[in-house]
Amino acid sequence: MMRPLRCQLCGETYLGREADRCPYCGAAGKQLVPAAEWVDYGRLELDPNDMEKCRTALGFEVSNWTFYQCCAQKAESIFTQAIFKRLAKHEMEHAELLARIMGAEIPDFKEESCPDTDREKFEEAHLREHRAIKYYLHAAGESRHPRVKEVFRTLSEIEVEHLQISNIYK
Ligand SMILES: [Fe+2]
Ligand SMILES: [Fe+2]
Repeated sequence: MMRPLRCQLCGETYLGREADRCPYCGAAGKQLVPAAEWVDYGRLELDPNDMEKCRTALGFEVSNWTFYQCCAQKAESIFTQAIFKRLAKHEMEHAELLARIMGAEIPDFKEESCPDTDREKFEEAHLREHRAIKYYLHAAGESRHPRVKEVFRTLSEIEVEHLQISNIYK
């Protein structure tokens, strides 16, 4: 029977038996907890250093979100379109999560352009994911708030999977 689950990273709800991944933010299935046990962390009290890290991360997420939207629109096949469409959704959830933690609005979108060929799109995706992972691992180590550490660690794990997908043409 279906039951309500809720993602402990992004807060989205899911009706099902179990899931391998959160379909919204890409977190590992263990993050989907029974809805009644879900903890609402909401907005956090952040010191200025943690706030700055979240702001930088929010910039990466919005940029990658709009980049993947462009990639999905200009995808060369329905196969690669499916990948880019879901990557865009994951990054959107990451942006919304960071904005919620900070009590901030999602910053205005700057239109991101993307290359014409899928090979080049994945090459750029690789660089973008690599940059995010590096920053999130650094931020997880430096941040003071335990929930912020956990969020950065979990985001870095998801972006590692994105990085692996970006190697599809290698
Ligand atoms: Fe999620
Ligand atoms: Fe992300």
